[in-house]
Amino acid sequence: MELRRATITAVSHYVPEKILSNSDLEKMVETNDEWIRTRTGIRERRILEKGATSDLAIKAVQQMLTNRGISAAEIDLIIVATITPDMMLPTTACLVQDKIGARNAWAFDLNAACSGFLYALSVGARFIETGVHSKVIIVGADKMTSITDYTDRNTCILFGDAAGAVLLEPTNEKEYGILDQRLYSDGSGGKYLCMKGGGSLNPPTHETIDKKMHYVYQDGKTVFKSAVIGMAEVAAEILERNHLKGEDIAWLVPHQANLRIIDATAKRMGIDRNKVMINIDRYGNTTAATIPLCLSEWWQAGQLKRGQKIVLAAFGAGYTWGATLVNWSLTNPEKR
Ligand code: COA
Repeated sequence: MELRRATITAVSHYVPEKILSNSDLEKMVETNDEWIRTRTGIRERRILEKGATSDLAIKAVQQMLTNRGISAAEIDLIIVATITPDMMLPTTACLVQDKIGARNAWAFDLNAACSGFLYALSVGARFIETGVHSKVIIVGADKMTSITDYTDRNTCILFGDAAGAVLLEPTNEKEYGILDQRLYSDGSGGKYLCMKGGGSLNPPTHETIDKKMHYVYQDGKTVFKSAVIGMAEVAAEILERNHLKGEDIAWLVPHQANLRIIDATAKRMGIDRNKVMINIDRYGNTTAATIPLCLSEWWQAGQLKRGQKIVLAAFGAGYTWGATLVNWSLTNPEKR
């Protein structure tokens, strides 16, 4: 069977308007702007005051369909990568499918935390490559503020809310599209970044609420060490597998968890800082949304161009991590 190649034919994002700055956080917990900036690179993040993850996702998807000039009825499959679904069930993907009117699509959620977008992109690409589907929406969306404890300074400074979406379609141009992927999991790291309450192990009770088990917990130092190694190694691996060097790559598109992890990854790949997409200063860590949010912003600004080779890289809870090599095929907005 000859495989088709999957490529990104549309991209968009949505961030809520309300800003939570470092100085706002100074009033909530014992922290300061300087500590947050130097330890993480974050200056501010966006907060969704009303609504849920599906509301973020729908706004990103609707704009993306407008950009592509197609109707929701043409969509075959919707995958929403999220760790903050609106509800335990139904899936957020089904809510999105209904609200956008994608009546011919099937839909499911995928949970791989901060690597969720890369995992979902990989799954979606298989449906295109094998000829099963021709239009697949991949969304990365998280309302992280819904699982963040704003009395815990170790975590509340890190997260924000956002959504990003891409459309995958087949291409006959063999040199374009999703060229290669490497994905990994290591469940032994699960205990260092988790949310223990709300699932079948610890269903919600007064006790789980009192013990704050419905908030994200992170052993920051331990996760940091694994993330630095994991993200840098897989990004370097995807270059080596494809006989590429840092200079062949137009953009590194890293998951935005910590500026120091991003810098370590760029260094390992031999990529200059000015070729790294960085917006963690404005949005913090938006989990599954970080990578499509970068792609969308840089594409809209005309900086992400057709024919540029880019590497997407992520590390997150699970542990999960991975990298994807893409030859960007979408022309810039002003040229369309
Ligand atoms: N403001 C001020 N001080 C703070 C603080 C805050 N918001 N949060 C923690 N501190 C303090 C700690 O209490 C500690 O003090 P102590 O030495 O007296 O105990 C000190 O600052 C250092 O804390 P530490 O946790 O070692 O900081 P760090 O340099 O590891 O940075 C993170 C913390 C969370 C920014 C960092 O560990 C990190 O980014 N981890 C990985 C995130 C990630 O990649 N996650 C995976 C994907 S989501």
